[in-house]
Amino acid sequence: MKEINIAVIPGDGIGPEVIGEGIKILKAIEEKDPEISFSFTEFPWGCEYYLQQGKMMDADGIDRLAKFDAIYLGAVGYPGVPDHISLWDLLLKIRKSFDQYVNLRPITLLHPELTPLKGKSGSDIDFLVIRENSEGEYAGAGDWLYKGKPEEVVLQTGVFSRKGTERIIRYAYEEARKSNRTLTSISKGNALQYSMVFWDEVFEEVGREYPDVETYSYLVDAASLYFVTDPERFEVVVTSNLFGDILTDLGAALTGGLGLAAGANINPERKYPSMFEPIHGSAPDIAGKGLANPLASIWSASQMLDFFGEEEWGRTVLDIMRDLLKEPELLTPDLGGKATTQEVGDRFADMLKRK
Ligand code: NAI
Ligand code: MG
Repeated sequence: MKEINIAVIPGDGIGPEVIGEGIKILKAIEEKDPEISFSFTEFPWGCEYYLQQGKMMDADGIDRLAKFDAIYLGAVGYPGVPDHISLWDLLLKIRKSFDQYVNLRPITLLHPELTPLKGKSGSDIDFLVIRENSEGEYAGAGDWLYKGKPEEVVLQTGVFSRKGTERIIRYAYEEARKSNRTLTSISKGNALQYSMVFWDEVFEEVGREYPDVETYSYLVDAASLYFVTDPERFEVVVTSNLFGDILTDLGAALTGGLGLAAGANINPERKYPSMFEPIHGSAPDIAGKGLANPLASIWSASQMLDFFGEEEWGRTVLDIMRDLLKEPELLTPDLGGKATTQEVGDRFADMLKRK
């Protein structure tokens, strides 16, 4: 019997709505599979908590989360709390404290109607972006000098350590080797003459240990163009924190939008819990109305299943999603349907029970 203890942080806005449906699916799996059991422990942290308690999470929050196998997060951020506080004091704090230095974002087209690209199908758009998740452009290093004065200067420094760069690139090579796919590195060595030249060098260096892996290296501007004109070029992609952030939203746009985009924050050594989340935010414009698409959140639950060695269940969840997407009228409005968040989750769970 495999027992997976999950810390649940529903968060703000549509977070609780979509996480509820993901939990519904995990419970349906638990019911069908006598070998798996999940426990769910909820934490009320987020912006509402901040407005009442003056903090995004409890002071011992990280210690308490450390005891779990995984964290399942909805979204954080809400009008009234500055985004840099909600982001740095909860989401980034967890990512950094638990050394979740790998961010996995599948860019997979589950139904041809979902892409705005003419003439592209599921076989053309099916790749995995591996984003550096612990340093780089989001290391938080910099300064703000002469604030408000005419000579005001701000510095936002990218931090690319050898350890940090090597480990993400090595992870990507391993993934490409394991799945027998090509590996593409996306960087910008022509303009960023320190960080990205270094990145490119490490990509080559580590690559010598993986002569069996076919590699490509693109500049980020060209890569953005290829994402749209030639997505079939990509199989496994490795890139920096900032470029990965931007490119995966572009990838989401190619595969059905934010309502379908999932991301996993992985600590590969499993020393700390990894965190699974839909990549969308709290969507205050539609919160509390039953309009939120729960499929991104359910997809991130399938990434959790993969991570715990339950790839068969992970695949089953995606297969059901493919089936569900064939009937757009039964989906949420962002995908052209009329169904509510809960109706989609219920239907999903029913289909799973009948598998
Ligand atoms: P957002 O992702 O919340 O919303 C962007 C647009 O996509 C909105 O029109 C929204 O209605 C729609 N949308 C998002 N998720 C959807 C879903 N599941 N179903 C249907 N439509 C969906 O991004 P936005 O508006 O820039 O940010 C809102 C708040 O969320 C901010 O406070 C921001 O800081 C926070 N945020 C948090 C993230 C996280 O927790 N990982 C990620 C991105 C933003
Ligand atoms: Mg983003």
